[in-house]
Amino acid sequence: MKQSFKRNDYMYRLGLIGNPIKHSKSPELHKQFLKEFNVRGAYELYELLEIELGTFTEWVKREGLLGFNVTVPYKEAIIPHLDRLDFFAKEMNAVNTVKLMNGELVGYNTDGIGYMEALRQFKPDFFDHTNKEILIIGAGGAAKGIALALNGLENTTINIANRTEERALELAKKLKKSHVYSLEEAERYLETFDLIIQTTTVGMQPNIDEQVIRLNRVKPTAIVSDIVYQPKWTKFLKQANAQGVYVLFGIDMLIYQAAKSFEIWTGHRPNEKLLESLKE
Ligand code: ATR
Repeated sequence: MKQSFKRNDYMYRLGLIGNPIKHSKSPELHKQFLKEFNVRGAYELYELLEIELGTFTEWVKREGLLGFNVTVPYKEAIIPHLDRLDFFAKEMNAVNTVKLMNGELVGYNTDGIGYMEALRQFKPDFFDHTNKEILIIGAGGAAKGIALALNGLENTTINIANRTEERALELAKKLKKSHVYSLEEAERYLETFDLIIQTTTVGMQPNIDEQVIRLNRVKPTAIVSDIVYQPKWTKFLKQANAQGVYVLFGIDMLIYQAAKSFEIWTGHRPNEKLLESLKE
């Protein structure tokens, strides 16, 4: 064991596992949520090695933590250490939220719902009009969560563009109406898409000069979003803004997925005004 986990007597003991996680904004968000409900609690960071996952989950049960979040690279690796998965987590084979219930660890995934809620707040009428062409760039854990959440929308085509075609095809198979593109094709046919969601790690700090595809051909009425939130203005979003289209930030999704996790753990839904204020 590389580290010994902290003991404390807080009522709501929460945390985050992943690697690296030092710069995560999740503790800040959950501390605000705890403050809003005026409850004693703690949200700690646990930077783990993969071989420590088993020891960590046993410790969580022994200590009686309320739950924890999971981020890269353990969203899939945590699954064998859990007792049960909810429907979404099972479908996605990825977990970002774990709750200890009656001695059992239950895995959830709030990434997709978080993205949907961020989008709904940003542009409430987006869901009113059907026949939407959505482009998801990437086919990893985050892409899967978002794609499955969007899959419930009527008359919507979910197009997947990924560097590795095989992964895009695998994700597309799970969707009602989908199409697979290469990154080059997506760039070429960009004016087809009403909503573009960048889910890869390209452009994330420290590689802020990287951009997964160019947005020169973006449709003027499109919404362009990036799930990378460090930096807030990725190169991708800067180009979208320069093209005059709607821009949805990665921090918005992070806030709504955090709010959903908090609700799963505590039963309390953070106030919308607080969520709005955290976007700045
Ligand atoms: P997560 O669970 O956070 O989504 P992941 O499962 O490792 O992480 O997925 C990362 C995504 O970013 C994948 O779609 C990956 O493409 P591949 O499937 O081809 O690996 C994509 N990605 C990462 N680095 C990339 C790069 N330099 N260019 C293009 N896509 C990249």
